Amino acid sequence: MSTTDTAGTGTTTTDNSTETAAGAPADAVAIDTDKLMGFVFRAVDEVGATLNAALVVMGDKLGYYRDLAAHGPTTPAQLAERTQTAEPYAREWLNAQAAGAYVTYDPATRRYTLPPEHALAMTDADSPAFLPGFFQIALGTVHDTQHIVDAARSGAGYGWHQHDTDVHVGCERFFRPSYHAHLVDSWIPALNGVQHKLEAGALVADVGCGHGASTILLAQAFPNSRFVGSDYHAESIQTARERAAAAGVEDRVRFEVATAQEFGPARADARYDLVAMFDCLHDMGDPVGAARHVREVIADDGTWMIVEPMAGDHVEDNLNPVGRAYYGFSTLLCTPSSLSQDVGLALGTQAGPARIRDVTTAGGFTRFRSVAETPFNRVIEARP
Ligand SMILES: C[S@@+](CC[C@H](N)C(=O)[O-])C[C@H]1O[C@@H](n2cnc3c(N)ncnc32)[C@H](O)[C@@H]1O
Repeated sequence: MSTTDTAGTGTTTTDNSTETAAGAPADAVAIDTDKLMGFVFRAVDEVGATLNAALVVMGDKLGYYRDLAAHGPTTPAQLAERTQTAEPYAREWLNAQAAGAYVTYDPATRRYTLPPEHALAMTDADSPAFLPGFFQIALGTVHDTQHIVDAARSGAGYGWHQHDTDVHVGCERFFRPSYHAHLVDSWIPALNGVQHKLEAGALVADVGCGHGASTILLAQAFPNSRFVGSDYHAESIQTARERAAAAGVEDRVRFEVATAQEFGPARADARYDLVAMFDCLHDMGDPVGAARHVREVIADDGTWMIVEPMAGDHVEDNLNPVGRAYYGFSTLLCTPSSLSQDVGLALGTQAGPARIRDVTTAGGFTRFRSVAETPFNRVIEARP
């Protein structure tokens, strides 16, 4: 291939030296150098953003954001001393944060400041704007890239349980703030008749519960109800039990290691009033099998609440920043998870409501309603 500048106009022609079947050269492709350099510099920004994922996790783990939030304008030496870290690391980290506009820098005083809005997003784990968990799950996911490269070649999957711990902890820290903000105050009330049942005393299953953030929030809000959280990942269930003990809800919450195709009530004849699945249906290899099982263990007037990543039904609906992040997770985390299990349906993180509806219908559910949305989640009500 050769590239020729045409008369200094900023346009070059690229001769791919490809010959047609008849032996004639293929048409030269005109290259707009402004567009080329625009693309290159956009990519430079993204390399900085890629590294920034690690810098955010570093700042979160070392307490840099919390320290900057608690103190005003700060020098690298002050940050290092207060966090008991080495000054060169604090200095370079601050410079990277300033270049990325996470902190501001005042050349006159040589001090760095975390603006109040950024402080909220970087330090308040109860705020729906909380960001470190999002970065932590992203970085943990990226950490396992080589396994996904290998899996893409072989067609194998890569299970949730095989991932770096940052994936499991980051997942909890990413989703919990949104559940904390919306689950009890708006998602449960949006479901037909469910709030009243939970207040009176209902039997609830939280399937694929991970570290149990949603189970514990529900248990805190509805003390008359009983909750069973389940997940196939034993380490996550162990953490969920510890979280429930710390939250003081052990009396009404039980956690068990079980797949979505086998979880069940302690008494064989009991039926669940509410089965919830938070951000996990698309991770399963056999979501239709799970749907059939939910139908077997749910009361005839029960409700299946499905919380899925926000998505439209068509690729073009999801070509936006949230869709970009979710397609990234889909490629590296959720689709490999599904492929690692029996059936391996590989719904994808951006399955969209129409395909989720198909899953519920195949499982024997007849009613389907999208009841709430946030920028990150869609909440669905499926009923027998
Ligand atoms: C994205 S995480 C969501 C965890 C939790 N629901 C939350 O919102 O924080 C997906 C969860 O689904 C679980 N999972 C995947 N396949 C499963 C299956 N077939 N049965 C039960 N759990 C499953 C994983 O172990 C993981 O905890």
